[in-house]
Amino acid sequence: MHAQINGISLAFNDQGTGLPIVFLHAFPLNRTMWADQENGLVSRFRVISIDLRGHGESDAPLWRYTLDQAADDVIGLLDHLLIRQAIFVGLSMGGYILFALYRRYADRVKGLVLANTRAQADTAEGKDARFQMAQTAYKNGPSAIADIMIPKLLSPASIQARPELVRRVRMMIEGNHISGIAGDLMAMAERPDSTPLLQQITCPTQVIVGELDLPTPPSDAKLMADQIPNASLAVIPAAAHLSNLEQPDLFNDLIRTFVSTMTR
Ligand code: MLT
Repeated sequence: MHAQINGISLAFNDQGTGLPIVFLHAFPLNRTMWADQENGLVSRFRVISIDLRGHGESDAPLWRYTLDQAADDVIGLLDHLLIRQAIFVGLSMGGYILFALYRRYADRVKGLVLANTRAQADTAEGKDARFQMAQTAYKNGPSAIADIMIPKLLSPASIQARPELVRRVRMMIEGNHISGIAGDLMAMAERPDSTPLLQQITCPTQVIVGELDLPTPPSDAKLMADQIPNASLAVIPAAAHLSNLEQPDLFNDLIRTFVSTMTR
């Protein structure tokens, strides 16, 4: 499905009925990374996954990208779908967008799942690495970004033993436009430190991390869970950064349990 939101076409899936759960993907992937969550949760919930601006089947305009703008796109789509409040699940960059969304639209958030993400801003070296990656994308295309990202996203065991999963992740990355990849990199480099926000997050929150996650390790997850007043932390074994793809059943169980404790 597509909708015209904030002047661009956004692609999304909207399946099932009941409490809405909205899924925001990682960099530089797309909404198909949530297929196992859609299949596992659609019988009980209204499950919405979005190709963020610059990704998948959504438009990828050549201009400035910000995480605030991504949050505006998500809320614009929910307005279009007449959804007032939802549970939001964001993985990595999806989590960064949830901090922006919470800052701007806290009243739209019923609960948060912050997966494989972090509250801190980029360091100076981190910002420089974003700039370098944008140049690589511009010179060598999205397949060069897949070469760099796959070892950061998946565990060595998955890379060795799950060629189908590796192929799926590669296809998602290679399907992106350079404008979207560079736009995300700029948006992430410019994002503010969300650590001061953590104590102001009052909704129920589930923090999830893969035990082998290198880009956003368990220590980052613990920091969020310690500072958000109503949060709990789950560490998924044998998963790295894309924990929802490496351990979909455990990830889905955590969401089901989180939602059932919230609505009890
Ligand atoms: C992601 O998975 O979204 C990225 O690894 C986030 C980042 O580069 O900071």
